[in-house]
This record gives sequence, structure tokens and C-alpha cells, in this order.
Amino acid sequence: MTLENLMNLYAESNPCSEKAFHNACEIIPGGISANVKFFAPFPLFMKEGHGAYLTDLDGHKYADYVLSYGPLILGHGRKEVFDSIHAYMEEHGTVLYGTPHEAEAAFAEKIKEHFPGIEMLRYTNSGTEAALLCIRTACAYTNKYKIAKFEGHYHGGFNEVLVSVNPDISKAGDARRPVGLPESAGLSERMMQDTIVLPFNDLDACREILMEHKDEVAAVIMEPVFGGTIPATKDFMLGIRELTKEIGILMIMDEVKTGFRVTLGGAQEYYGVKPDLTALGKVIGAGFPIGIVGGRKEIMSIASPQGTDILDHSNTKSSASDILYHSGTYNGHPVILNAGLTTIRILEKEFSSLIERTELLKKEITALYASKGIHILTPGLGSMFNVVVTDLEEIKTYRDLQQSDFTLRKKVDYALLLEGVYNKPCNRYNMSTAHTDEVIDFTLEAFQKALKKL
Ligand SMILES: Cc1ncc(COP(=O)(O)O)c(C=O)c1O
Repeated sequence: MTLENLMNLYAESNPCSEKAFHNACEIIPGGISANVKFFAPFPLFMKEGHGAYLTDLDGHKYADYVLSYGPLILGHGRKEVFDSIHAYMEEHGTVLYGTPHEAEAAFAEKIKEHFPGIEMLRYTNSGTEAALLCIRTACAYTNKYKIAKFEGHYHGGFNEVLVSVNPDISKAGDARRPVGLPESAGLSERMMQDTIVLPFNDLDACREILMEHKDEVAAVIMEPVFGGTIPATKDFMLGIRELTKEIGILMIMDEVKTGFRVTLGGAQEYYGVKPDLTALGKVIGAGFPIGIVGGRKEIMSIASPQGTDILDHSNTKSSASDILYHSGTYNGHPVILNAGLTTIRILEKEFSSLIERTELLKKEITALYASKGIHILTPGLGSMFNVVVTDLEEIKTYRDLQQSDFTLRKKVDYALLLEGVYNKPCNRYNMSTAHTDEVIDFTLEAFQKALKKL
């Protein structure tokens, strides 16, 4: 069957989602609240989630491998998390204080237990905000105003990092010296110049580029596991840590995807590397909006207001420009921190079996493809992986990934949607503790049927 046939079948079997999508398009640009949530011809509209499964408007039930792009590591509606949310509201009588409260430091201690490189932290409301604050913190601390990021890496939807996330490689220059390309309208020439693009997993090339820009680059920001599934080599990671120290550039690890997913201590535990700053998000909020910026005390301390308040109009004498201004009505939301703490405590008990089942699924999917004579790789660490249809023996960069057979992968993905396995076409696989052996068996049967359809 062709990809077009499969997409037609998908459209025919989802009339309610199609109608809801067209309705939404009248009032919401593109019908979606985040650009990432679209896929052609229209995305599915979900109405229920239980354990490992989602149900859409047309009543189809799916084993969910998106898990809301990663946060739902315990699956949908884990009882202990729901109970802790209800209990918190009942016990405390409110959802928000607008003042400091004890859960902020208590949750911070739990984070520090798993991420010893985080000596102090601040809360934000999303991973995007966390990455943004990491960058502004680095600029404030170093008094430098450019950043370096890696080709292909995603850090959320804001100016400095909307560069070369998914570039057309015919326009992106030499692999060892990538040209930065804009990923959004509204980016000025100056913003583009303020972001230097680096090749992932190529230490020598990174050294050359960073040496040229060391006096203007505040920080290197990286996804330690690119796209959540393509790991930095150990030598590369250790090399970047040494290099950044040597030339006075901060190292930011964006662990929004990898935190509590690669290991409980994220990729930094796996690599044994302490970055200067870390961004966290997704899993730590139990499905609610959250982000964390953490790092060395000396760096994080510049956010301490020391008596200044830029919104106190009775006091204009403060030296606000020496201090990193960071604020937010919902920062450190008590109900979210409480739900996040419950999630981490459960994960501490269930993480190893989650990883075992992820490895099993990877192995079985690889075998199913192989039985059809198709070579795939399933790169990934911990509880996330990708399915890459490729002749290569290893995927180390965005450009390696670009050589894979996306059409075949998409065909399988649409066929899987028809068989009750939910993933956005070509997206990575996220696993949860609710993905039991039965869910894995169901998924493998669906793979078998989907591959037969091709
Ligand atoms: C590595 C990374 N950084 C930042 C973000 C942005 O996080 P959020 O979507 O919570 O704003 C994401 C989201 O996918 C991410 O994967």
C-alpha cells in the first residue's frame, strides 16, 4: 500500500476528529495549540486517557507512545498522583498562595538528590521557559551575549534557539561548519547572528568554532541525547565539558526530555558530567506545566533580588541591573510540585522495570522489521527510543538521521494508527510504567499487522 492510500484510510476512519479539526481551524490558527501537534491530513482529537491508552473522538482506543511528548511517564491517570492532587487541595484549601511555601524547597531537595550538579534552582512554567532562563542566566553571569547550539537540537519555541532545528541540509553548509537557518518567521538578522550552530558529536569541529567565538559566546546549550534518542558519545560529552571549562563558556544541559527518563538523574548521571546549568521539565510536573533551571550556586545566586523589586515603584534606587530578574505568577506551583514529588517517588521504585520493558520492545520491533528484510536502528537511552529505517550501523547526528527512509517509517506509523498504536508519524517512542507486558504484546501484534499491510 502507498503512503497516500494509508493516509486516505486514516482520514476515512476518523470523521469526528476531522470535523473537530475543521471547527478548530476557524478559531485557532492551524487548529492546534502547539505547532508540534499537527500531522497530515489532520491530527486525532482525543477525549480520554487511562493507563497506557488514549481514546479519540471516533471511539478508537490506542496504546499511547507520545505520552504528551514525554511527561506522562506513569501513564494516564495514575491513581496515587490523582490522590495526591486532591489531598493537597483539600488539606490546604487552595491551589495557589502567591507566597513562598515549603513545597518549593522540599521538591528542590528531591531534585538535588538525583541531580547533584544542581546546587540551587528556580522554577518556571515550561521547558521552553527553563531553556530561555538558562540562556539569560548564562548571559548575565558571563556578560557575553551569544549562544552556541547544536544542529538539529530543540530547546523550545523562542528566538535564540529557533535556529537549525530541522534545517534543509542542502542549504545548511558543511557538516563540520553548519550555517544557522531560521525555523520561524519573526527572527531578526541580529538574532540569527547571536546563535552559533555546532555539529553534534564532532569535538574537533566544535573546538575550532568555539575558539573563534569564545569571547562572545556565553554558553553552549545541548540536548545530551539529541531528539531524546540520539546520544552524545561519551568522549564527545566529556570533551565538551572540558573544552567549555577551558575557554570560559558555560555548559547548559537541556534535560527537559531526558531528565528522569534516561536515568533518574538524567543524562548527566549517565555520562558522569556536571554541566554549569540544567533545564528540566516534562516528567517532573506529572503532566502539569513546569520547568526548572538549576546549577552551580555561584551562578544561580545572581537571581537573588537582594532587596530590589522592579515592580516596587516606591524604590527606584535599587541596583536591579546587577541582578538576574526572574519572576512568574505560577512559578513553584504547590499542586504541581506535590504531583511531581509523588511521581518521582513512584519512579524511584518502578524505573528499572520500565527500562527492562523498553529494551524488550526495542528488541522485538527490530526483529519484526528484520523478518520483513528491513534494517532499522532503535537508538535511545532509558525510556525513550526512535525507530530509524536506515542502512547505517549508527546514527550520531542530524545529518545521519536525514539519510533515513522517512517514507517507510511514515507508512508504518499510519498503518499503526489504524491498528490502535498512537504515535505522531516519525516521532520518537516514549514509554511509561503503565506499558505492561500486555500492552507490549498488543503493540507488537499491531506492528506485525502494520508491516504486513505494506
Ligand atoms: C529538549 C527540550 N527543551 C525544551 C523543550 C520545550 O519544553 P516545553 O514544551 O515544556 O515548553 C522541549 C520540548 O519538547 C524539549 O524537548
